[in-house]
Amino acid sequence: MDFDKLIKSRASVRKFSSKKPDWRNIIECIDAARYAPTAGHNSALKFILVDDSESIKKITKACQQDFISSAHYVVVVCSNPSRLVNAYGESGEAYARQQAGAGIQNFLLKIEQVGLSTCWVGYFAEEQIKEVLKIPKDVNVEAVFPIGFEYEKKRTKKAPIDLDRILYFNKYGNTKMQEKESIEV
Ligand SMILES: Cc1cc2nc3c(=O)[nH]c(=O)nc-3n(C[C@H](O)[C@H](O)[C@H](O)COP(=O)(O)O)c2cc1C
Repeated sequence: MDFDKLIKSRASVRKFSSKKPDWRNIIECIDAARYAPTAGHNSALKFILVDDSESIKKITKACQQDFISSAHYVVVVCSNPSRLVNAYGESGEAYARQQAGAGIQNFLLKIEQVGLSTCWVGYFAEEQIKEVLKIPKDVNVEAVFPIGFEYEKKRTKKAPIDLDRILYFNKYGNTKMQEKESIEV
C-alpha cells in the first residue's frame, strides 16, 4: 500500500469478526517494530503475544473494556528501561517510553498493511496485567493491542487535528512563517 494511504487509513477498530488471524502475520508486525529508532541502539521493547483465552479474559478485565475479549490475539507491549537507565541515568526512563511509541507506530502501520485491525488500549490496571503475564516489577506495561479482522469495513475515523494547531515557526506559539527574501547572486 502507498505510504501516505497507509498512514491515513490506519484507524482504531473495536469490533472484530470471528475469523482468526494467522499469528505469523502478527509476528511480521512485531518484527517491524525492530526498525524504529532506539536510543544508543539499546532496545527496551518487549512484545507479548497472547492467545490463551483465559489470559485474554483477565486482560479484558484489567482494561475494563469488553471489546478486547472478542479478539483471538492480544499483544501486550512492555518496555524494560534498565539498560537505558544504566547508560543515560534518569533520561533512560523517558527514552524507554519514547522508544515504545516509535516501535508501536511501526507495529500499527504494519498491522494496517497486512489487513489486520487493532486499537491502542492505554487504560488498564498495570499490576493486574503484570500478574497475568508474569511481567517483572521493573518492566513497564506500555499498551495492550487486541488484534483481529475488522467486523465491518465501516470505519468512522474522525478528521485529524488541523495542521495549524500543531505547527509553530521559530518560536512556540508562532503560527506564521516569515519568508526570508532570497538573495539572487
Ligand atoms: C496512549 C493512548 C491510549 C489509548 N487508550 C485507549 C483505550 O484505553 N481505549 C480505547 O478504546 N482507545 C484508546 N486509544 C485509542 C484512541 O482513542 C484513538 O487512537 C483516537 O481516538 C484516535 O482515533 P484513531 O486511532 O482511529 O485515529 C488510545 C490511544 C493512545 C495513543
